[in-house]
Amino acid sequence: MHDSGEFSCEVTGFPGYEQEILRLRNSNRNEPETREYLDWRYQRSADSPEPQVFWLLTPDRQRIGMASVVFRPYWSNNMRVQTAVVGDISLDTRWRGRGLGQTLLRFMTEYLDAHFPQQPAFVIPTEAARRALANVGWVTSGALVPHVYVLDATRYVRALVRSGWLATRIARRMRALERIVTRLRTKRVGALHLKDTLDESLLEFARRLPPSGGAVRDLGPESLNWRYAQHPHTRFTFARFTRSGETRGLLVFEDSTLEQTWSIYDLAAKTPANLSARLTLFVQRARSAPDLVTLRVTLDERHPCRAQLRALGFIARRPDTVFQVHSHSGMAERLAWCVTQGDKDT
Ligand SMILES: CC(C)(COP(=O)(O)OP(=O)(O)OC[C@H]1O[C@@H](n2cnc3c(N)ncnc32)[C@H](O)[C@@H]1OP(=O)(O)O)[C@@H](O)C(=O)NCCC(=O)NCCS
Repeated sequence: MHDSGEFSCEVTGFPGYEQEILRLRNSNRNEPETREYLDWRYQRSADSPEPQVFWLLTPDRQRIGMASVVFRPYWSNNMRVQTAVVGDISLDTRWRGRGLGQTLLRFMTEYLDAHFPQQPAFVIPTEAARRALANVGWVTSGALVPHVYVLDATRYVRALVRSGWLATRIARRMRALERIVTRLRTKRVGALHLKDTLDESLLEFARRLPPSGGAVRDLGPESLNWRYAQHPHTRFTFARFTRSGETRGLLVFEDSTLEQTWSIYDLAAKTPANLSARLTLFVQRARSAPDLVTLRVTLDERHPCRAQLRALGFIARRPDTVFQVHSHSGMAERLAWCVTQGDKDT
């Protein structure tokens, strides 16, 4: 336990604190979560340390703030490293704006430095959390940039021309032209198979995926299964890219029917050429899906896939948010992190 004036901080594990975590988290978020979601979120892999929950307590021992760390495997310089992923940062509203969030996050950072000095730490924070973390020494390593591909331009053209009839006709022409360009690009490049389960061929592909440079989340079978196949409320689709009968790439996306969008969370391929071919096939497949308006993919600003996305016609929007890192040794701050939507909310 650590005392700061009248308030104190302490650290516990996850079991036994589920209801308190759920209460604090839900009273400080727009969208409430379930116990089932929490159990999924705090699930750890067999070789990772136990999740750590950091608490801020009032003098009469009420838990008014929390932050948690769940260790997830990342690859860094060809080594599998358990990374301390920070989340569930919450401080009850009436206690905000007086430095208490910072007190809690300083306690957490010092605790990680002392007990997990070899583990880099990572977070995708909200703006309030970013400021508090920056004040206790966390470094912003990059920004997350949403990339959008417009499949049906009607609503965008309509903003420029008054007539709905004309907008539909212009958008239809644009779509036909783009379809021809994509078809020319995809000649003899391979095939794409969409499934709503992770089948054995994809797991086998994930098992043999070579570690990429920089710091990147592990996409091995166990991680993929947990992150996507076992997610308590989001249904993901798995796209398998094959060429000459061999699996050469994987792409995971969420079909958001309400938003008429496919959002890509993760993508991996054997070679950059495979990646490019697979993205082209993916765009072509999306064109034949009824009522789909856009494709979206969020990547950090140095991610190797960005050039391919731009070449295909994806437009980079203003960065959504940033990610911050911290390590006792300064190693996490020197790494080139490769971040996608799949790193969020984990
Ligand atoms: C993120 C969160 C925990 C931050 O808590 P907080 O106590 O408000 O944050 P801080 O400790 O940084 O204090 C905020 C402000 O209080 C003021 N402050 C700091 N120390 C102070 C002190 N000793 N006395 C008076 N005011 C002080 C400062 O103006 C500070 O802002 P600054 O960083 O621009 O200087 C809180 O906003 C929260 O729970 N938000 C909702 C959930 C959320 O967004 N979670 C993040 C998910 S990743």
